Amino acid sequence: MFMLLSCGAARYKLRAPNMKNSSCRATSLRRLAASFLSLTACFVASAFAQPAKGVSKYIGPGSCSATACHGGVQPRSVTSVLQNEYSIWVVQDSHSKAFRSLQNPVSQRMGRILGIAKPEDSPKCLACHALAVSAQMKGRDFDVSDGVSCESCHGPASAWLGPHTTKGFTRQQSVALGMYDTSDVVRRSEKCLSCHLGTPDKEVDHRMIAAGHPDLVFELDSYSAIMPPHWKLPQDPNHGARAWSVGQAVKLREALNRLSRRTRGDNWPEYAELDCFSCHHNLTKPENSWRQERGYEDRIPGAAPWNVAHFAVFRILAKDVNPEASERLEKELATIYKLTAQPNGSRKDIDASAKRGSEAASQLLQQVNALQFDRARTARLLGAIAADAENIADNDTRTAEQAAMALDALFISYSSQAGKNAGVRAAIDGLFQQLDNPSAYNAPRFKTQMQRVTAALKEAGISR
Ligand code: HEC
Ligand code: HEC
Ligand code: HEC
Ligand code: HEC
Repeated sequence: MFMLLSCGAARYKLRAPNMKNSSCRATSLRRLAASFLSLTACFVASAFAQPAKGVSKYIGPGSCSATACHGGVQPRSVTSVLQNEYSIWVVQDSHSKAFRSLQNPVSQRMGRILGIAKPEDSPKCLACHALAVSAQMKGRDFDVSDGVSCESCHGPASAWLGPHTTKGFTRQQSVALGMYDTSDVVRRSEKCLSCHLGTPDKEVDHRMIAAGHPDLVFELDSYSAIMPPHWKLPQDPNHGARAWSVGQAVKLREALNRLSRRTRGDNWPEYAELDCFSCHHNLTKPENSWRQERGYEDRIPGAAPWNVAHFAVFRILAKDVNPEASERLEKELATIYKLTAQPNGSRKDIDASAKRGSEAASQLLQQVNALQFDRARTARLLGAIAADAENIADNDTRTAEQAAMALDALFISYSSQAGKNAGVRAAIDGLFQQLDNPSAYNAPRFKTQMQRVTAALKEAGISR
């Protein structure tokens, strides 16, 4: 969970140090072969998929995999979609191996530690590693070992599978029949975060992390790129900046909802809500300690505070969009920060602040979602984030990681319209290098690298 390593492409991957470098990902020959074999034409496949009246069921990715449907190997241009979505998912997207991961040695050991006999049979794990739906919702070809498959994100398909292959059938019509609208960036973020952050029924807590589960880190635009996308990217060249912004607002709201839930649970303090590296950092001689040099503002020296990575970068956009709501948010988060770091900080008060904070985040989300994104706004954001070097760097590893992903996402969005710039690129890549060994993270060095980003942005004429 802690390692960031380059995946050859422009984007970086977050991987645990002990996990195989999937650079980038194992190939499932069995399933690719299956997709070659299913040469059935789309309309034939759909003839078998008459919906049961009223309920739409989950029918499995096999229904999408015919070569003439979504199982092509090369992208095509006959229809509005690429038609190779299944092949991308099977070969490159780690979601297709999510079930198999539950059988690997790390999962088996997690099972032993947590008292789960078979993770691959446990609802606790299947909730996120497969399509976890009730028996009545499973169609004939449903197979749990398909992992996180098409319908995990696109919704149960039995009702729309047939109709959606007919000419002129719109997304709205499919959505009316139960398709999940992933084209709406807010809804898309919510879908990703249901597994990448958690919900009341899907949880990764510190017990699971201590047993071997990767920490859950997310940023919509970067993670969509890593996935990788099996869709045509939107025409609007600002889509990356929009995805980053909307994704951040949804994540903050959901993180505060999760915090609120956990203060009411029976396992508070939940360490996974706190700053991981306030506990998990390397110790140094006092004269080398940047943490002692920085001090412990607003908390008892050495106490672990709330993980501010959910907010520390987004706050820059929030301030720009709605100063009043952002001030309310800042106030609640300052309270949360202080209370979580007190030995007897009132859970009730943390919960109340988390709820009010979540409301402010919702309001900001609506405004962010309504924003016009353009190159000038992205340039402003790039400059402002890089200029906040000190605040960001001092908040430890997870915040630095969010800043690196933010600058990366925003710069890619900017340069898709303004051309590449090697200086800025190299400075941003240098941020990721600072995160190679997260427990040895060094705030002053990260700050210096952020200042290099600022200088490179100025040099390139992107910010003043
Ligand atoms: C149903 C749960 C679920 C949903 C919804 C989901 N994911 Fe995932 N995601 C997972 C699981 C589980 C894994 C780990 C797969 C494995 O390696 O076993 C994963 C892995 C990933 C990875 C690879 C991370 C790495 O370290 O290699 C990326 C990137 C990713 N998801 C992005 C997304 C995006 C973007 C969305 C929304 C469009 C999304 N996910 C929606 C469950 C989900
Ligand atoms: C809240 C959703 C959620 C639950 C519940 C969950 N996981 Fe995960 N799991 C994920 C996501 C998301 C990832 C990918 C994280 C990333 O790389 O960013 C993942 C990754 C993993 C990985 C690393 C996969 C790899 O590529 O090597 C293992 C192993 C794993 N989970 C095992 C388990 C086990 C065992 C359980 C049950 C005890 C479980 N998970 C429960 C969401 C979940
Ligand atoms: C982890 C979530 C996830 C999984 C799994 C997934 N998709 Fe997607 N899919 C998305 C997102 C996000 C988009 C892009 C937004 C959009 O346009 O809907 C998308 C877009 C698409 C599109 C383009 C839609 C359009 O009108 O442009 C098709 C077709 C598609 N997916 C098919 C599939 C198929 C087939 C599978 C299974 C083999 C699959 N998807 C698995 C999340 C997912
Ligand atoms: C309040 C302190 C504290 C916080 C905050 C905290 N942990 Fe832990 N963590 C611990 C303790 C104590 C252990 C048990 C160490 C042991 O037994 O040696 C542990 C164990 C672990 C382990 C297993 C240790 C190993 O060597 O494999 C991992 C991994 C881990 N934590 C990751 C995290 C992550 C990721 C976060 C943030 C989401 C986090 N921790 C937050 C205190 C904390």
